[in-house]
Amino acid sequence: MFNIILFGPPGSGKGTQSARLVEQYGLIHLSTGDLLRSEISRKTALGMEAKAIMDRGELVPDAVVVGMIASALDHNPMAKGFLFDGFPRTVAQSEALDNLLHQKKTSIGVVLAMQVSEEELVKRLLNRGLTSGRSDDNSEEVVRARIVEYHKKTSVVADYYRKFDKVVEIKGEGSVEEILLLLCSEIDKRLSN
Ligand code: AP5
Repeated sequence: MFNIILFGPPGSGKGTQSARLVEQYGLIHLSTGDLLRSEISRKTALGMEAKAIMDRGELVPDAVVVGMIASALDHNPMAKGFLFDGFPRTVAQSEALDNLLHQKKTSIGVVLAMQVSEEELVKRLLNRGLTSGRSDDNSEEVVRARIVEYHKKTSVVADYYRKFDKVVEIKGEGSVEEILLLLCSEIDKRLSN
């Protein structure tokens, strides 16, 4: 089993590249943002609680997202591997993920950390907000709050995995195809080892 974390700030291209990578490598895509938006669209109690937090650009509680990931892992016992997108976002989530994977006798193979300038992130997200219907994309204040939350709570996740020598930085600006090639090259190196 080969498991990947696609890491980076909001708008760095995690979702865009995840769609291509899961197809290419036959992985299961686990995006906590998508799982939360599915709860919102089904108007579940969890979804309604999460929506208010997401609309402020803040992180939902660790226990909520860890519970969703634990259940998704349990539901995919035959997976060749998982691609985590938007998770983990705190050190507590990283530790919980390591424990869950350890119980399944597997671990994280690589953390691919996408590097994109703040101005490019804001531009991409506000541009998507014109058509996406995502309420957290259509105000610059909320977009910038998401980036602040990333620097405050999430960027340290890369430091956590650096201790285990698992982080590779990827230039996340350029065409989608160019960035995909960089990501695949890092994955292929590890798969052939
Ligand atoms: P989530 O859904 O994870 O959103 P995010 O991290 O803010 O990421 P985005 O989906 O906005 O960006 P992305 O990096 O995936 O980029 P994308 O490919 O979409 O989280 C939303 C909220 O849910 C959080 O704020 C939080 O409240 C909550 N949440 C989720 N997970 C959580 C967790 N683990 N713990 C706690 N709370 C959690 O691209 C963005 C745009 O750029 C697109 O329009 C795309 O077409 C464009 N684009 C992509 N690549 C390029 C390129 N190379 N050049 C130009 N444009 C590009």
